[in-house]
Amino acid sequence: MSTHAGQDVIAPVSFDHSPARPPRNATPDPDRAVAGRTRQFDTPRLRQDFSDQGAFLYMEDFLAPEVTEQLVASARGLLDEVNRNYLYALYYYTRPGDHIGWHYDTSYYDGRRYTLLLGVIDESSCRLDYELHTCDESKPDVPGSVQIPPGGLVFFDGDKLRHRISPMGENEMRVSLTFEYVTDPNMRPWKRVISNMKDAIAYFGFRQVFRQLMKRGGDAA
Ligand SMILES: [Fe+2]
Repeated sequence: MSTHAGQDVIAPVSFDHSPARPPRNATPDPDRAVAGRTRQFDTPRLRQDFSDQGAFLYMEDFLAPEVTEQLVASARGLLDEVNRNYLYALYYYTRPGDHIGWHYDTSYYDGRRYTLLLGVIDESSCRLDYELHTCDESKPDVPGSVQIPPGGLVFFDGDKLRHRISPMGENEMRVSLTFEYVTDPNMRPWKRVISNMKDAIAYFGFRQVFRQLMKRGGDAA
């Protein structure tokens, strides 16, 4: 398991893309599988890595293989029905040029905001590029880049990690599951508007978001 991101560029991990076979016995309980997995982790070491890397952690095999297999099968099952609705936690990147530009996951909540990304499908050349310590003047910036394999995890403090998703190439696909953890979910109403707009624009681009808003305005009239 690699927990160090640093300046390493993690090579793409090969993955069997054949359709997941249904388990022979009962479907494994994901909660139990994840709990069993996390019990094996060296938590003090991971906490230290997270701190040393300026509130950033990468684990290439966070999920147990059987859980990853279920997740990939579910994501593939949804593929035909996927609509690129913004503020949807399962992000599908299916078009050449899909990307997210350089940004912070700024917390507009009253508390801190942590981002957790889980790799689900990666048949792409997309990378999560990042820079550590950009908000810490006592340390030099440290650039890094990871390609998150199915079952891989990235966890960071959104206010501290400058990052982007690099553009997709032709005939590529990438699916990731994104979670947001906040220590205090209260948010001032005007901050909510800014937060929603910012997330939508980061993923879909300025033009598409405003086209949707104009359309909604028209529908309501
Ligand atoms: Fe982000």
